[in-house]
Amino acid sequence: MSRTMLIAGNWKMNGLTADGKALAALVAAGSSEAGCDLLVCPPATLIGTVGAALAGSSVSLGAQDCHGAESGAHTGDVSAEMLADAGCGFVIVGHSERRADHGESDETVHAKAQAAHRAGLIAVICVGETEAERDAGQAEAVVAGQIGGSLPQNATAANTVIAYEPVWAIGTGRTPTAEDVQAMHSHMRATVAASHGGDFAGQVRLLYGGSVKPGNAAELMGLADVDGALVGGASLVAEDFLAIATHCP
Ligand code: PGA
Repeated sequence: MSRTMLIAGNWKMNGLTADGKALAALVAAGSSEAGCDLLVCPPATLIGTVGAALAGSSVSLGAQDCHGAESGAHTGDVSAEMLADAGCGFVIVGHSERRADHGESDETVHAKAQAAHRAGLIAVICVGETEAERDAGQAEAVVAGQIGGSLPQNATAANTVIAYEPVWAIGTGRTPTAEDVQAMHSHMRATVAASHGGDFAGQVRLLYGGSVKPGNAAELMGLADVDGALVGGASLVAEDFLAIATHCP
């Protein structure tokens, strides 16, 4: 079963108009070298600017979050339909920073993933254990629980990507060993095979995220059940982001 690798940049809360325009233009210019799908997820304020800078390239545009409802009295929120209307094809949901900063539960993340699907977006659903959970030997159970609670039953491999991001590896420069990443991804695939069937499990893309850099990308992207990366810090430097993408097997 061949799965096209996806390298996704999560710009988080970084960048003003000029920065976003310049970074997106560099990524677009270098994208023909990448042997995989590329995605950038700028902050909501830059979606239009970045979309314009990516026009004509193969780089996809995504957002970092959406609300579960289509519209209504939700001050400050953005719906999946609004993101689709603004040119997005993807949206990240359930990032650990949102789970922590905004108290998002699996139930909330599930509603956001459903909203993404309703709007025709591909949901990038994030899961991952804390360091304390890993130390307690609970990493696999925590991740399986998050997948069980966050992944809509009618999700398809075409409208869903799952990103494994151990919380303790995000922005820290630390990563699990390659063996630990492969073991977790294999466990994730078995988890979704049980809930969503073998076809879904064989086709769904499982990204690794957490301190992915050009220097460790070859090893991580070479793992059998890793189908790409969700990149934070290194996605803010076009050269590094593109270098990671050159490591897609
Ligand atoms: P990082 O972030 O690459 O800076 O560790 C990854 C993420 O949070 O998506």
